[in-house]
Amino acid sequence: MFIVLVAYFLLLVPDATVVLDVNTTVGESTVLPCILMTTTPTDLKTLRFYWQDERNYVLYSFNEGKEMPEHVNKLYRGRITAFPQDMIRGNISVKVKNLTLEDNQNVFQVFAAIFDTGSTRRYSLEHRKICHITFHVAVPYKSVSLAVNEETMTAVCTTQRGFPEPLVKWRLQHLSDNSQYFLDPRDVNTTAVQDPKDQLYNFSSTIDIPGGRYRSVTCFIHNPTLNVTLITTHILNKGEAERSLPGWAIGLLVATVVLLG
Ligand SMILES: *[C@@H]1O[C@H](CO)[C@@H](O)[C@H](O)[C@H]1NC(C)=O
Ligand SMILES: *[C@@H]1O[C@H](CO)[C@@H](O)[C@H](O)[C@H]1NC(C)=O
Ligand SMILES: *[C@@H]1O[C@H](CO)[C@@H](O)[C@H](O)[C@H]1NC(C)=O
Ligand SMILES: *[C@@H]1O[C@H](CO)[C@@H](O)[C@H](O)[C@H]1NC(C)=O
Ligand SMILES: *[C@@H]1O[C@H](CO)[C@@H](O)[C@H](O)[C@H]1NC(C)=O
Ligand SMILES: *[C@@H]1O[C@H](CO)[C@@H](O)[C@H](O)[C@H]1NC(C)=O
Repeated sequence: MFIVLVAYFLLLVPDATVVLDVNTTVGESTVLPCILMTTTPTDLKTLRFYWQDERNYVLYSFNEGKEMPEHVNKLYRGRITAFPQDMIRGNISVKVKNLTLEDNQNVFQVFAAIFDTGSTRRYSLEHRKICHITFHVAVPYKSVSLAVNEETMTAVCTTQRGFPEPLVKWRLQHLSDNSQYFLDPRDVNTTAVQDPKDQLYNFSSTIDIPGGRYRSVTCFIHNPTLNVTLITTHILNKGEAERSLPGWAIGLLVATVVLLG
């Protein structure tokens, strides 16, 4: 009874297309995941699937138990590995290596079919789109530097040779109560210069430190693709903090000195 119900379920709910983003780093190898959720092949000879990009260039092609390297576009030759041992469980993921920024924003789609064995070629899974992957490739920013000019009260935060363009945030910490707040983006000037050869960005952000007394200024550089944030903090006028002890503390110090004397 249970089996029958499951079989009904399979007929009524065919695989829906799975849509996802895959984010990764230049030079790495990444698995592009795709799983046949409701139907698995009984035999690899009944399975047909292929991966292609938006331009319909084929990354990988598998037909009735055999890889079809002659269908693969030269852009992807030697860069794709499949996992035949996993295919029987419906896992038709592939691994792509040697990633470059050329692969950034690429969209990969997987089409698959499973047919019953026998002469009639009845499909238990019609030829259809199973997975849709948007690929984001990044180059991490390695370091960030923060220069503060305490005469002009300007701060400059810079970072080099990453991708994509980073997002910046600035935080100030009040001297009086250590409370913190983020600067309004409208008060922040940023410049990003892209290298025409390798597409990498050099990035610089400048603020005028507003009126008031602050303990520290912090710059956050965020790579949106890798979801990594580099943080650097500058402590402002170290001497100032000591000179500005509240009156009662100075009174206490004097009293202590008098008592000791
Ligand atoms: C991988 O990248 C390197 C450097 O860009 C290149 O020399 C090599 O031919 C690439 N390999 C493949 C299989 O594309
Ligand atoms: C599918 O196969 C790939 C390659 O072996 C593996 O990395 C991935 O974890 C598998 N996914 C599932 C859900 O089993
Ligand atoms: C980015 O910065 C690096 C290191 O300072 C420098 O070598 C390179 O020329 C800069 N690139 C651009 C496009 O300004
Ligand atoms: C930001 O740029 C504007 C216009 O170029 C300029 O007036 C302003 O002083 C700059 N602010 C900072 C913090 O550099
Ligand atoms: C992947 O990268 C895209 C583009 O930068 C970004 O919008 C998205 O939030 C990233 N996803 C994760 C999980 O970090
Ligand atoms: C980025 O990472 C933070 C934790 O470091 C997490 O809370 C957040 O959900 C992540 N953002 C995305 C888009 O995955």
